[in-house]
Amino acid sequence: MFNIMEIKPAFADDIYGFTDSLLAWLNDKQQKAPDGEILKILLNKAWEKNLAEEQKIVQHALFMIYQINLSHPLSAPAQRQYDPDVLALKNRLEQAWIEHEFNHVEIPDEVFSSEHFGDYLKKVWKSHNASHHSLFDFLERQATKQQVDIFLKSDSALNLIFFDLVAWTLIGSQPETRGTISENLWDEIGEGDNVFTHVNLYKEVLKKQKIELKDNHYIDMYDSAALAGHNAFMLGAINREHYYKLLGVMAMTEVLDPPQYEKLVNGCLRLGLSESEVKYYTEHITIDIRHGDDWLYKVIDVIADKYPLSRQEFYLGSLLRLQTAERYYDSLLERIKIS
Ligand SMILES: [Fe+2]
Ligand SMILES: [Fe+2]
Repeated sequence: MFNIMEIKPAFADDIYGFTDSLLAWLNDKQQKAPDGEILKILLNKAWEKNLAEEQKIVQHALFMIYQINLSHPLSAPAQRQYDPDVLALKNRLEQAWIEHEFNHVEIPDEVFSSEHFGDYLKKVWKSHNASHHSLFDFLERQATKQQVDIFLKSDSALNLIFFDLVAWTLIGSQPETRGTISENLWDEIGEGDNVFTHVNLYKEVLKKQKIELKDNHYIDMYDSAALAGHNAFMLGAINREHYYKLLGVMAMTEVLDPPQYEKLVNGCLRLGLSESEVKYYTEHITIDIRHGDDWLYKVIDVIADKYPLSRQEFYLGSLLRLQTAERYYDSLLERIKIS
């Protein structure tokens, strides 16, 4: 969400009172930061004991803190952006999550030895479950109109800030990559035509399906997996040390989309929608093939050649996107099936 005066929660209550307290603090309705002891308990249960409810609370805490970065400049949360206590909390949440996310990962030798690193990352994508997830087969062949609508609602929050996410990759970018990134951003903004900005194309999809775009962009549907997927972008967007991870996240996003959107569009056509009603998705089937190649070959490869140690970051960023996407698709499919 963009230019909000107050942080919007996916949920406000939890049994610890942590979410409520954090929300009030970020919105400047209480001066006291959330209880540090409770945070310790939450982090332990979430990441040492692997408990789903606590994982959701801590991912959601990070999700709310990240919203500050796109809040209205005149809002109370904007005043908190560099509050040392907010930053300390953010860092603790991030460190615990990242450690858990990558605790099983061993960096393969090929990350450093492969001659064509971009092609290697494509192999990583192709061999990951996220690249051929059954969610999209279900949408293509079996989903009802109502089930497709659930997918569309759930897709809102990220699609609607995607311009900003791409814009973040431009700040402090390697000069030789700036043209390529700017082209991507130009596509996002509809090559300057307001009707065709990707944000507006997406809003059109919702409008054509008579889905009202709620103020909170349907984040109340978000569970732990969806929150983590969203956070994976913001982690790299606002933390310089994770910038290369963000580029990995971006590259995987673009290569994931075309084959999956093709299935989604087929499902929509099967249900009687016209191609023009899902233009956002048809557009991305073609454009994202180029975007994927651009990130891999004109951005990542250029940086990887110059700074060989960056390869590990690109690899981890790619994994971060693939892992969070897989969990998100798993849980969304389950939700859609029982609807
Ligand atoms: Fe786009
Ligand atoms: Fe794209």
